[in-house]
Amino acid sequence: MTTSAAPALLTTADLTMRFGGVVAVDQVNFTLTSGELRCLIGPNGAGKSTFFKCLTGQLKPTAGTIQFNDQELSGQTTHAIVRKGIGIKTQVPNLFDGLPARENIALSARQNHSQQQSEEITDEMLELISIAGLAHREVGNLAHGERQLVELAMVLAGKPQLVLLDEPAAGMTAEERGRLAAVLRDLAGRTSLIVVEHDMQFIREIATEITVFHRGRVFLEGDVAEIMAHSEVQEIYLGKEANGAA
Ligand SMILES: Nc1ncnc2c1ncn2[C@@H]1O[C@H](COP(=O)(O)OP(=O)(O)OP(=O)(O)O)[C@@H](O)[C@H]1O
Ligand SMILES: [Mg+2]
Repeated sequence: MTTSAAPALLTTADLTMRFGGVVAVDQVNFTLTSGELRCLIGPNGAGKSTFFKCLTGQLKPTAGTIQFNDQELSGQTTHAIVRKGIGIKTQVPNLFDGLPARENIALSARQNHSQQQSEEITDEMLELISIAGLAHREVGNLAHGERQLVELAMVLAGKPQLVLLDEPAAGMTAEERGRLAAVLRDLAGRTSLIVVEHDMQFIREIATEITVFHRGRVFLEGDVAEIMAHSEVQEIYLGKEANGAA
């Protein structure tokens, strides 16, 4: 999906993040085209989360630029980045535990839609993610994987142009992972997505384009088959986590 005809939605140029002497992200040049679903993988400490946090505004890069459409994101707050049409699901859940799932989703939709639109979007999200059965449950009482699905619904309720997900399948049952994979496959093409993920089984299910990070740099990009077949990738990553169950 990296055809030159498709317009770039997000581009980083020489993006760098240092922590003292550690160069966690090292001059990364990355391009996401509109409608693309991309997974970021790599061994522990490769720089995936740091790169992700630079995109979401959780970290201010040491150097380099991040262009989204024609706007510079580097150095902006997470709040400002969300307002530009980027939906962010960080690893730390962001739910109102005392409220039912439905209200959580409606509140999220309400931030940039009318009351009536928010109700419609909420129904749409409950349907899309197949969580209508959770609508009236207090999210504080839900299992971890169910909470993850409600949070995904909240992110999507903002109707973002680009969705950034950090390990969305973490803590999910096989059934929930399957549901999440189906949702992501369904979204791809309409919405652009970047997914940081450890679980290779899950990545196979969403059959995405992959960027492999290694030591803060982009080591390789390709589709699932290319990445899996690459002997050096197997050495640096798959060798240690043969089934990706990290
Ligand atoms: N806040 C921080 N302060 C200092 N060093 C950090 C900080 N955050 C990350 N690092 C270092 O930056 C490097 C990249 O870490 P990062 O968390 O981005 O890796 P990762 O690819 O997400 O790994 P994992 O798969 O374990 O989540 C590591 O050497 C890590 O120790
Ligand atoms: Mg990480």
